[in-house]
Amino acid sequence: MNRSSRRNFTWILVLAAVPALAIIAQPPQQNGSRNEPAWAFPTPSATQPPDTDAGPKHVPGSSKAYTQAQIDDLLNPPDWLPDEHPAAPAVVTKGTAPDALACGSCHLMSGMGHAESSQLAGLPAGYIAQQMADFKSGDRKDPARMTAIGKAISPEDAKAAADYFAALKPIPWEKVVEADTVPKTYLNKGRQRLPLPEGGTEPIGNRIIEMPDDPARALARDPKSPFVSYVPKGSLAKGQALVTTGDNGKTIPCGICHGTALTGVGDVPRIAGLSPVYIARQLYRFQNGDRNGDAAELMKPTVASLKDDDIIAVAAYLASRPPQ
Ligand code: HEC
Ligand code: HEC
Repeated sequence: MNRSSRRNFTWILVLAAVPALAIIAQPPQQNGSRNEPAWAFPTPSATQPPDTDAGPKHVPGSSKAYTQAQIDDLLNPPDWLPDEHPAAPAVVTKGTAPDALACGSCHLMSGMGHAESSQLAGLPAGYIAQQMADFKSGDRKDPARMTAIGKAISPEDAKAAADYFAALKPIPWEKVVEADTVPKTYLNKGRQRLPLPEGGTEPIGNRIIEMPDDPARALARDPKSPFVSYVPKGSLAKGQALVTTGDNGKTIPCGICHGTALTGVGDVPRIAGLSPVYIARQLYRFQNGDRNGDAAELMKPTVASLKDDDIIAVAAYLASRPPQ
């Protein structure tokens, strides 16, 4: 190879690498140009801290022990406190590969879930069953998880799961803190946001940063391990105005349909005390048309003119409200 052809060859390598670099540099978005901020639509971080020890894990109040591999078996989730919930149907406790994964793993046996999944405890059974039907039909989309699960679960099993979770009482789970700076975090392979082991802080920016109060307990899928969410300063007051008054016609007061305490009415679900990251993701999903069931039509005018900072404020305020 002479000198100029070597230079050309180098240029070809550089050009070939450019699209790859562009992909790495982009914030993870699932669907091209749609508005899906990375903080609300979690994907695993490119670099993961090394795994911690492989020994048996414990959680407060339980005499059981499970290894991390057992805890993360989505077909056979841990049941740390079996005396604290009613008998669970098989669909909640035992999955069938590949897609009929056990509800109790991601949503926890307490139904309180994590930010990347959702709370199911105490939601109306009719609402839960309808969401499962919407995942099955494609009226509601969650490409990461529930689309495949919804397609694999029969209506009878969906109803059994709905009855189980509807009967559970939600517990206080979300603490909301206004802050300018937040701990540096990463998203693990299960898409859970965790503080970086080496520590450090960074500006919050236009994001909600939600993480477990106690990462070890959340990683163990402890059914009683709550979350803390950092939100930009001023979010709570702004969110309260939007939620309770509509803030001069920007949206419709939520209590009209979700009840004055925002804890749900009939089959309209509770929105008080949910994970703020989950709430925000759903407001984007209504905007983006990923929730298209009959009942979702009622939400579309509500979200139509909400901007990113409105969505953050609404989610922060709702999360700060008591779930009951
Ligand atoms: C592997 C993890 C995982 C498992 C197992 C799982 N889910 Fe989910 N579930 C999710 C995620 C993630 C979401 C949030 C979807 C979104 O962001 O729109 C969710 C959301 C839901 C919702 C919507 C809740 C709401 O408030 O609208 C329902 C209902 C639901 N799941 C039911 C179930 C049932 C029933 C099972 C068992 C058959 C199950 N899930 C198993 C991950 C899981
Ligand atoms: C006109 C009635 C109506 C109003 C007003 C309304 N909602 Fe809703 N909302 C619904 C219905 C019905 C659903 C269930 C949608 C479905 O089944 O897909 C829902 C669902 C939701 C969900 C998804 C809950 C979950 O568990 O996934 C969120 C979040 C939500 N609403 C937030 C709000 C907020 C915030 C406001 C006020 C700014 C509001 N809603 C105002 C009727 C309403």
